[in-house]
Amino acid sequence: MKYLFCNWKMYLDYQQSLALVKQVGKLKVDKKKVGVAVFPTFFAVPEAVKALKKTAIKTGVQDATAIPQGAYTGAVSAYLAKRAGVQYAIIGHSERRYVFGEHDEEVRKKVEAALEAGLIPVVCVGETKEDLDADKRQYRLKKQLMHVFDGLKINGGKIMVAYEPVWAIGTNDACDPATADDVIGFIKKEISGYISAPVPVLYGGSVGSKNVLSYTNRDIIDGVLVGSASTKMSELKAMLAALIRA
Ligand code: PGA
Repeated sequence: MKYLFCNWKMYLDYQQSLALVKQVGKLKVDKKKVGVAVFPTFFAVPEAVKALKKTAIKTGVQDATAIPQGAYTGAVSAYLAKRAGVQYAIIGHSERRYVFGEHDEEVRKKVEAALEAGLIPVVCVGETKEDLDADKRQYRLKKQLMHVFDGLKINGGKIMVAYEPVWAIGTNDACDPATADDVIGFIKKEISGYISAPVPVLYGGSVGSKNVLSYTNRDIIDGVLVGSASTKMSELKAMLAALIRA
């Protein structure tokens, strides 16, 4: 089984998100072959939960604040997301880390809060172009993974990771599949030093219908986290069809 996770970022407004959710809800998903989740704008999350309730497709949020509830203007917590019927939360996406200045400690708190709330965190890790040029890919990944997993208590919950090299996101410069395979092998080895539960690891960064199988047909890569291509129904359909056929 492979995962096809669709991060719609801030590309679509409320109406566009709902229109896409409705189409996605009509797709035939073979659950044994593919696990699909959509991550719409917060505005559309409750409607997505409702529209997808009777389907095999899950709903997630793109971020979730650690503090559960209270006087925190502008924040949306994992606790509230769970109460709205959400199943997944992307945590530590590079756009959160590098655009909004989220650091490793905050990512850790969010991961703990998501688990505590009963969500499945999808934790993003990945090196920047500067890291890569300075030969610091492994250093960056080790550091990010250490902050997430050192002493982490899963308590029967589930956690996932997405390897998203920052230089590959939204650039059409996807990481070549053999390298992604190697890096994800490294990530899994690192994680196994902290927890024994299996942790699915996805690849993300310029994935679309043309290259999706080059990642998902590798045993070690558990699926893909797709950004812009997942906001187009034709691409989404083509990716899903490819995964179901594979
Ligand atoms: P992209 O984004 O598919 O548009 O490159 C992936 C992501 O940021 O999750």
